[in-house]
Amino acid sequence: MFRTTGITLGVIAKDLENSPSDALVIGVAQGPEGPILLANPLSAEAAGTLALSLRHLGVTGANDQAHRLPGLPETGAAVLVLAGAGRLSGGALSEETLRRTAGSAIRQLAGLPSVTLALPTASLADVGAVAEGAAMGAYSYTGHRSSTEGLKDPVARALICTDVQARDAQAVLDRAALIGRAVNATRTLVNQPPNHLYPESFAEAAKELAEGLPVTITVWDETRLEKEGFGGILGVGRGSSRQPRLVKVEYSPTKATKSIALVGKGITFDTGGISIKPALGMGEMKSDMAGAAVVLNTVLAVAALGLPIKATAWLCIAENMPSGAALRPADVLTVYGGKTVEVLDTDAEGRLVLADGLVAASRQKPDTIIDVATLTGAQLIALGTRTAGVMGSDSVTAALKSSADRAGELVWPMPLPEELRSGIDSQVADLANIGEPNGDMMTAAVFLREFVGNDAEGAQIPWAHLDIAGPSFNNGSPYGYTPEQGTGCTVRTLVTYMEDMLTV
Ligand code: BES
Ligand code: MN
Ligand code: ZN
Repeated sequence: MFRTTGITLGVIAKDLENSPSDALVIGVAQGPEGPILLANPLSAEAAGTLALSLRHLGVTGANDQAHRLPGLPETGAAVLVLAGAGRLSGGALSEETLRRTAGSAIRQLAGLPSVTLALPTASLADVGAVAEGAAMGAYSYTGHRSSTEGLKDPVARALICTDVQARDAQAVLDRAALIGRAVNATRTLVNQPPNHLYPESFAEAAKELAEGLPVTITVWDETRLEKEGFGGILGVGRGSSRQPRLVKVEYSPTKATKSIALVGKGITFDTGGISIKPALGMGEMKSDMAGAAVVLNTVLAVAALGLPIKATAWLCIAENMPSGAALRPADVLTVYGGKTVEVLDTDAEGRLVLADGLVAASRQKPDTIIDVATLTGAQLIALGTRTAGVMGSDSVTAALKSSADRAGELVWPMPLPEELRSGIDSQVADLANIGEPNGDMMTAAVFLREFVGNDAEGAQIPWAHLDIAGPSFNNGSPYGYTPEQGTGCTVRTLVTYMEDMLTV
C-alpha cells in the first residue's frame, strides 16, 4: 500500500533513432539577450533552425517551461520538448539545475510512457543529477480515489542521452533510482490521510517498506511505552483513541566504522490538542509526521546502498487530539530518563515526543544524532516555504549544510544564543515546553538540546536539528521535481551526509 513503483533509467549515445522514445527533451536557458538552445544531439541544421525560431515560439527558457513541438524524424520521437533551465550563472548547468530541469520535464510529460532526456552532461555526476531529477519527477499520488480514470501515469522509462558509457553510468543510475524511491516513499507517507496513517498503521508501513532490507525493526506499543517511562510520546498521544508508538529501525552492518542516530517527529495529525489550532488549513497537519517519514526512508536507503555505517532511525509517533483524556496546559510530564516538562501549550507537542526519542537514541551512544521535524511555524516565518533550518553542534550543522549544498537542497543554519535557555525555565518542572513566542524555531531547538545525552567521555554527543515545517509540504503548485503536498525534502541531504561521513 505504501510502496511506490519507480522509473526505469538508462543511458544512450547520440544515435537517437536506435532507441526511440515518445518524447525527446532538450534544454533552453534564459540568456541575457534571450533564449539559448543548450547543447543537444540534433543535426546542426535542425538545431540552427530551431534556435532561430525560439522567440517566435514564445520559448524563453524560464524554469518549468516545457514547450511541445512535433518530433523531428531524425530523433525517432513523436514529440520534441523544449525544457526551460532558467537563468544560468556561469557557463555550465549546475547539478541542481539539471535535476530541476529534468524533473520538471518528466513531471509535465506524465501520460507518455518513455522519454529521452538530452540535457548537457559533462560528467558522471551530471548524469546522476539528471537521473535523480527524472526519478523524483516521475511521481504521482493517486490517493484513495475509487477510479483513477483520467489520471496520467508518471513516465515509466527515461533514457539519458550522454557521451558517458552505459557501463560507467550504471552505478549512478542505480543510486538515482534508489534515492528517487526513498524520496517518493516519503512523499506518499506524508500524503496519506490521517485516518489511514495513524500511529499503529505508520509502524506497519515501516515494516512493509523495510521488507527485504537488512534492518531490524522494534515497535514499542502503549503498554511497553508506559512500562519504560516514555512520558513525552504517551502524554501527547493521550488525547487520541489511536495509541502512540515508538519505532526503532536499525541498520547495523558488521563492517560499520561509524554510527548515527536519526530521530523523527511522527505526529500523524496535529490538531494542537487542547491548545487547539484554527480550523483554516488544519488539514495540512496530516504532514506533521514528515520528519519520521524522512528518517525512516533515509535509513532504508542507507541499508539498500550498503554503506558501512550503523544507522538507527527512531520514529516518535503519536496523534495530537483534544479530548477528556488529553494533556492540559499546565500538566507536567516525565520524559524518558526522568527529566520533567511543564506543558504550557499542548500545540508545542513535537518537542515532547522528540525528547523521549533523543534520550533513547543517546543511550546507544552513537557518534552523531540528527533529529528531523516539522517543528515550528516560526521556521516558516524565518526561512519561508522552501528552506529548512538547521541548528545544533557547529560541527554537525556545518557538515549538514555542505551535504545539503551537494545534494541540491536548501538548508540554512540558525544560531542558538545562550539567553534562550532561561526562557524555558519553569516554576514547577525542569523545563517548560514554550518560551517567548519570537524566535520559537531556536527556542524549540534549545529545548531539544536538553535531551541530547553524553558520550563515554562525558561530552555532549554531536547533534543537529532540522526544522522542515515549511519545505516538507508544498501547498502551492508543483515546480521542478517537486509535486504538490509531500516533498520528501532532506532525504537527499541526509543520505549524502552519510556518504560524506565516510570520506572524512
Ligand atoms: N506542527 C506544528 C508546526 C508547524 C506549523 C508545522 C506549520 C508545519 C506548518 C507544531 O507542532 C506547532 O504547532 N508549533 C507551534 C508551537 C507554539 C505553540 C510554541 C507553532 O509553531 O505555532
Ligand atoms: Mn503542534
Ligand atoms: Zn506539530
